[in-house]
Amino acid sequence: MVTSSSNKTSTKDFKLNSNAKQKISKILETSNHDPKNLIRILQDLQDEFHYLPEKIISHIAKELKISEHHIFGVATFYSQFKFIKPGKHVIRVCMGTACHVLGAQSLLDNLSRDLGINTGETTIDDLFSLESVYCLGCCALAPVMVIDEDVYGSMTAAKVNRILRKYRKEAKPKQSKSGANKK
Ligand code: FES
Repeated sequence: MVTSSSNKTSTKDFKLNSNAKQKISKILETSNHDPKNLIRILQDLQDEFHYLPEKIISHIAKELKISEHHIFGVATFYSQFKFIKPGKHVIRVCMGTACHVLGAQSLLDNLSRDLGINTGETTIDDLFSLESVYCLGCCALAPVMVIDEDVYGSMTAAKVNRILRKYRKEAKPKQSKSGANKK
């Protein structure tokens, strides 16, 4: 069983409804229901659902007639697999040498404090996930963080605050003009 070490992590449950089962069944069919193709199956499942919820692992264990323990053993060996629902925005902080020398650790600490989560976790409102990575290939911009596909370089604490504010503002539901003045 995979558990989160933090109560700040999203606890929203994954629903294994008929639609999800159909998608899983298609993925298993593509891999001929063959446990030898387990890694490919897990990759396809993650592409489809964005992470590997425990209910999916249990379901495919039955379908493939192998133990959940075995599936978790394989999946946890590869860092590409995620077991916690990612946030709407995934923040990646580079901890490569160039970024490390220019303060990546304090950048990560600032983000962690601001979001109230550690790396590998998702905020309770599902807005952000925090990850650390090694060299994003743009060392001249160190220290670097990436949010989804957007690269932010020469990061400072003030910049972090400004950028997070922007994403939080965008996430707030817009007040409709027609409804704004209704009594
Ligand atoms: S070390 Fe951070 S981008 Fe290369």
